[in-house]
Amino acid sequence: MKGLILAGGRGTRLRPLTHTHAKQLIPVGNKPILFYGLEALAEAGIREVGIIVGDTQKEIEAAVGDGRSWGIKVTYIKQDEPLGLAHAVKVAQPFLKDSPFVLYLGDNLLLNGIKPFVEAFRSGKPQALILLTPVNNPSLFGVAEIREDGKVVNLEEKPCDPKSNLALVGVYIFQEDIFLAIEGLKPSWRGEYEITHAIQRLLDQGKTVLPFTVSGWWKDTGRPEDLLEANTIILDQIKGDVKGEIVESSVQGRVVVEKGAKITESTVRGPAVIGSGVFIKGSFIGPYTSLACGVRIINTEIAGSIVMADSCLQDVQPRIEDSIIGQNALVNTISTLPRSLKLTLGDHCQVELQKVDYY
Ligand code: G1P
Repeated sequence: MKGLILAGGRGTRLRPLTHTHAKQLIPVGNKPILFYGLEALAEAGIREVGIIVGDTQKEIEAAVGDGRSWGIKVTYIKQDEPLGLAHAVKVAQPFLKDSPFVLYLGDNLLLNGIKPFVEAFRSGKPQALILLTPVNNPSLFGVAEIREDGKVVNLEEKPCDPKSNLALVGVYIFQEDIFLAIEGLKPSWRGEYEITHAIQRLLDQGKTVLPFTVSGWWKDTGRPEDLLEANTIILDQIKGDVKGEIVESSVQGRVVVEKGAKITESTVRGPAVIGSGVFIKGSFIGPYTSLACGVRIINTEIAGSIVMADSCLQDVQPRIEDSIIGQNALVNTISTLPRSLKLTLGDHCQVELQKVDYY
């Protein structure tokens, strides 16, 4: 069996982070989202993995390399335009040939891996295996209608009037029949060739589409709030491990402090991950915070946030919460007049300030 990870796409909903980076490389729990998918495929015994790349090919290649860190062999496949999941599968046909394959959307996080699904596919040999999960907002997903006996009857992509609350998770397993089902598909209202429509065709042709309901998964990390929630879920799994230097500080609960990090005169309350080379002084690092390597936090409180490599937060008030800060950013307080905000913000940045009452 082969693997196909989709790491094209422009990640417009994650701007400004995706102006400069591939969305699949945004770190969650200090690890790029894409790496969780690679780990899941490797753990399921898949050794040959194709990665569909677009404009951010170079960055993805630099991060993943030839795949040997995961014990897999990676082949990069260029998709010139992000024309949808079915299009990406078609572009990968020369790589996939007649092998069954796992299609894994590179911005999805499946907490408990995919091993049981790969095993079920191997023993049941359906033409397609799909994963489903109940959601509150099915209109944002592909939605499956399931009969009482558990058979899939109908699939719709982002329906206005969903027939169930069962959303398609971004991991699928296919036999080569899917290529024929993709032939002649028409683009959907959003201008994409939808894999959901191709699977519907398999159903129409009487082929077997095996559904599995999963729990403990995380939807594609398409929006900033999804990233923060994913960070929370990942940090809930970590085990504490302090390798860095702790000076006159309190480290509470499950906290990973990597070698080369230094925490002084501060409190860190887990779960949290502190990357190598991080420097924290006179600060409070609250639960569900990931600080990537080289970050500096001085006289500042932060919780429930992701701070990417080499950024600096100094003398910031009040506490920073539910925030995502990109690489090499600086947030600080100055004491010179006039009392004003000085902002140098990139396109699509969002700043939410606390309302201050003047008496
Ligand atoms: C895609 C699929 C959708 C599926 C979702 C899961 O949507 O088209 O059927 O439910 O992934 O993440 P997209 O993320 O392209 O909007």
